[in-house]
Amino acid sequence: MQPSDLGRDLEKVLIDEDAITAKVAELAAAIDRDYADRPVLLVGVLKGAVMIMADLARAMSLPVEMDWMAVSSYGSGTKSSGVVRILKDLDKDITGKHVLVVEDILDTGLTLSWLVRNLRSRGPASVQVCTFLRKPEAVKVDVPVAYLGFDIPNEFVVGYGLDYAERYRNLRVVGTLAPHVYGG
Ligand code: PRP
Repeated sequence: MQPSDLGRDLEKVLIDEDAITAKVAELAAAIDRDYADRPVLLVGVLKGAVMIMADLARAMSLPVEMDWMAVSSYGSGTKSSGVVRILKDLDKDITGKHVLVVEDILDTGLTLSWLVRNLRSRGPASVQVCTFLRKPEAVKVDVPVAYLGFDIPNEFVVGYGLDYAERYRNLRVVGTLAPHVYGG
């Protein structure tokens, strides 16, 4: 889905396709360097991380293992509780593995902070985080990020995996929606 396919529903593009591709290549090169001497297991967090996982893994030169988790915050709408429920767990045991969690966005940080703690409790050799986007103004919990794509303003963004009411995940850029889309 191209920005033009959204017509008036798209307010502005924050990160275009070229910038995404260049940043993914940069992240992949850094991860390749850091994990050259040990096998890495990429853990993607469904559903938002699908795009960055697919692009990042393909931009890397090292062979990777990939696994997926799906998590959900308790309560609908807001995610302020920080209590997370596992909807789909990893398929395999991660004992002794070098885990790199791949996320589309770190917003409040509650999801990643919980996830990193949960994964660490399973006895991996290491757990690091790669997030494509981060909203510094929204962060409530400090989560160490080893690989960061972009810091963005505290605006609701869609595209490149990120949705509004499950739509726009397949938009090829990261952008904001016009207020009328939200019924505004
Ligand atoms: C998004 C994103 C992170 C989380 C970040 O997932 O993929 O997992 O929110 O928010 P936080 O830092 O405030 O915890 P979401 O729950 O929207 O699910 P999705 O990936 O299926 O869209």
